[in-house]
Amino acid sequence: MELKIKPKDKLQGTIKVPGDKSISHRSVMLGALAEGKTEVTGFLTGEDCLNTARAFQKMGVEIEGLGSEEMVIHGVGLNGLQEPESILDLGNSGTSMRLMLGILAGQDFYAVVTGDESLSKRPMARVVEPLGDMGAEIYGRDGGNLAPLTVIGQNLTNQEYQSPVASAQVKSCILLAGLYADGTTTVIEPAKSRDHTERMLEYFGTELNIDGLEVSVIGQPKLKGQKVVVPSDISSASFFLVAALINQQAELILEDVGLNPTRAGILEVLTAMEADYELLDKRLENQEPIADIKVNSSNLQATTIGGAVIPKLIDELPILAVAATQAEGETVIKDAEELRVKETDRISAMVTELRRLGVEVEEREDGMVIPGPQSIKGGCSCRSYDDHRIAMSLAVAGLIAQEEIEITNADCIKTSFPNFVELLKDI
Ligand code: S3P
Repeated sequence: MELKIKPKDKLQGTIKVPGDKSISHRSVMLGALAEGKTEVTGFLTGEDCLNTARAFQKMGVEIEGLGSEEMVIHGVGLNGLQEPESILDLGNSGTSMRLMLGILAGQDFYAVVTGDESLSKRPMARVVEPLGDMGAEIYGRDGGNLAPLTVIGQNLTNQEYQSPVASAQVKSCILLAGLYADGTTTVIEPAKSRDHTERMLEYFGTELNIDGLEVSVIGQPKLKGQKVVVPSDISSASFFLVAALINQQAELILEDVGLNPTRAGILEVLTAMEADYELLDKRLENQEPIADIKVNSSNLQATTIGGAVIPKLIDELPILAVAATQAEGETVIKDAEELRVKETDRISAMVTELRRLGVEVEEREDGMVIPGPQSIKGGCSCRSYDDHRIAMSLAVAGLIAQEEIEITNADCIKTSFPNFVELLKDI
């Protein structure tokens, strides 16, 4: 699909973006491993989360309502999964693959996981190596670094793992493997990454020990099925937040947005950029903080984005780069080398496409520097690199371009935000 975006001001309306991708994945995973029913509402029907759910179906988990936002997962208990008869295809989803490897490592069966072209290029050694230290047997291309990967389930031994990277996928993978090990498994991170796994494990009845950057789980717990209400995804909301901020005479309300402090780094940055936004009706649902966000057009100021905030807004950096083009002064994004191993190299992709749109931007190994404010010329065809967040970031840039833009291969948007285009039309 090609997406054509015409410049448009006065964005107005109240919208609810779809469910949180990270929480949706975890609701199926823990729901499957729990005893009893897990009822999920607000599940993200994006391809990534559907792929996680389909993989559990292949391992004998009954799921009612797959494809809709309301699902019932009939948990099989920690040791109730069955050997899948065919390959588990996880599409574009790094979260599915890395977390799934942690679960598969401790089964008493054989499984093969694979993914699309992008996922097959993403580094899996970051989980395969620590899982190997726990006794896992995982084989794949490039010495076990690249999918397709074969997992021969083993009895796992507990570990204390000091992760060199602040990655929730790595942390969650080891904690999930730790459910199958005897004794206590500990992960220590260099900076705090999103903690949805920890919150949901506790919500499902597992005892964790969390001390700053250190998280421990005791093996062989009993998880109990729960009701999970998935909040709207702050990463998806961010496209609309920035669209309103950089637009003339815009006023949007984004409903029920998840504001977990390990995810809401974008709000810290937007405050530093003097963005005009307000949090309304703050509340807590299934251990996760939620609020509505009211946002207006703003005169943004440049800032430096780096250090410990990076893991809290890692997925929002492409859209923050678009915001930076409209901010007064020089915005610096640093310490963000992880962006180079996402669905695509997001530093290179954003720098290339912003330049194509007529924006001046300096590429750095760990980020970029964007002077502002600059006008976005447009009148060109941009590439998505088959990366949903690149496609949506460019679409938002197109709203304030001088001339219409086109984004090729925009189908990838459905991996995380199936109704993005409809909501854009609504506002
Ligand atoms: C995710 C963690 C992040 C994020 C991804 C979802 C998760 O990846 O970029 O979109 O659900 O755990 P890393 O853990 O690799 O930083």
